[in-house]
Amino acid sequence: MLRKRSSLILFGTFLFVTWNAILVLLLWGRPPPGQTGEPVREQQELGESPAADVAADVLRMADMFETELEMQKKILLQIQSHQSLWQQPNSNGRKVVGHQPVIPILVIACNRVTVKRCVDKLLEYRPSVELYPIIVSQDCGHKETAEVIGSYGDRVTHLRQPDLSDISVRPQHKKFQGYYKISRHYHWALNQVFKSLSHSSVVIVEDDLEVAPDFFEYFRALYPLLKSDPSLWCVSAWNDNGRDGYVNAGKTDLLYRTDFFPGLGWMLLKEMWEELEPKWPESFWDDWMRQPEQRRDRACIRPEISRTLTFGRKGVSLGQFYDKYLRFIKLNSEFVPFTKLDLSYLKEETYREKFQKEVYSAPLVMYEDVKQGQLPGPGPFRLQYSTKDSFNVMAKNLGIMEDFKSGVPRSGYRGVVSFMYKGRRIYLAPPTGWTHYDPT
Ligand code: UD1
Ligand code: MN
Repeated sequence: MLRKRSSLILFGTFLFVTWNAILVLLLWGRPPPGQTGEPVREQQELGESPAADVAADVLRMADMFETELEMQKKILLQIQSHQSLWQQPNSNGRKVVGHQPVIPILVIACNRVTVKRCVDKLLEYRPSVELYPIIVSQDCGHKETAEVIGSYGDRVTHLRQPDLSDISVRPQHKKFQGYYKISRHYHWALNQVFKSLSHSSVVIVEDDLEVAPDFFEYFRALYPLLKSDPSLWCVSAWNDNGRDGYVNAGKTDLLYRTDFFPGLGWMLLKEMWEELEPKWPESFWDDWMRQPEQRRDRACIRPEISRTLTFGRKGVSLGQFYDKYLRFIKLNSEFVPFTKLDLSYLKEETYREKFQKEVYSAPLVMYEDVKQGQLPGPGPFRLQYSTKDSFNVMAKNLGIMEDFKSGVPRSGYRGVVSFMYKGRRIYLAPPTGWTHYDPT
């Protein structure tokens, strides 16, 4: 980028200087009025007085200056238009290319050579090199993985987390050492992105994620909403209950708000990092994010159909959820032109009111009828839970994720979990009048 940028500057400066040089030469080389043959002849032929001659000259000069100024203005405008390509932070301190914000993709890697699957897909679907620089941050110092990352040359930026030391943890947490390292790595890598590289947003992807064709389009479309709506704190590509059969495959463009922080391919803004960074935890960063002190009632946007898929069975958490849920999460396969869609329905108040109306005007049904697929009509339907236990039992039996984090069910919004069951839309919802989550 640097080479391109300086050649643009050189080109602009060259044009500008050349034009001025030509102009100066032209004006200097011009003899004073009355000394050239031509004007005299003109003057004689037209029978004009010397005063008229001077006036004509002044007019000609004025004309020349006008043309010259016009030219200079054009050149300056050209330079200015190229300036937007230089990726300089604009007046808001944002990096932009042709008025579009730059959204870097940060890949978190460690010791799995399968990071190749992740990076290959990112490169395959990336619509613009300038708009989406790919930064692979590697922890663990694993040689083979470093070689895989290195093999992409300058198509990706390879960062290496420098502190590979063991972390002293209390004895009961010995087995969680991995989670401490992940947290340390995130802390370092995000500081690199925001502080050293001065980006103003980032999409974080782990090395065991594969992205969908419209992954980039999705984040670009939601960037303005995330930026402008203080009730949002992230945009995620992931639906925790996005298993095949549990989503409406025809609704590829459907998006939601969720109070559950999904992670797994998510966009974070610099302002949010500045808020989180000073208190970033030593371990379990994702569950820490889900605590009320961090989340502060803010929501994330998530899709009906995931834009990431996880292929990392062998990970730090030893695949606790992998075999049961994660590996079945359906990856969206068609391109949705999100940047051309009207996404205003996701604005907080509009969304909350519509969602609440949609959920609570849906007929209340019994669990057994849902389970047996004996529902009157096409739906949607509402299934009520009034305690965590009743949620748990129904969720388990229907095959959606049953755990709560800080009182919030996975993919939930205001307590409501939306999913498809036997072809019908079901809202697993608390009784009307819900006010807040119970984090205990
Ligand atoms: C789970 C989460 C993951 C979260 C992590 C930390 C899922 C499916 N995964 O990790 O999103 O970040 O808990 O709470 O919910 N890594 C390092 N250094 C290490 C070990 C791993 O940087 O020493 C990196 C890996 O390259 C990967 C990420 O950390 O990008 C998560 O590691 P992984 O082994 O996939 O753990 P999960 O159990 O999936
Ligand atoms: Mn993983």
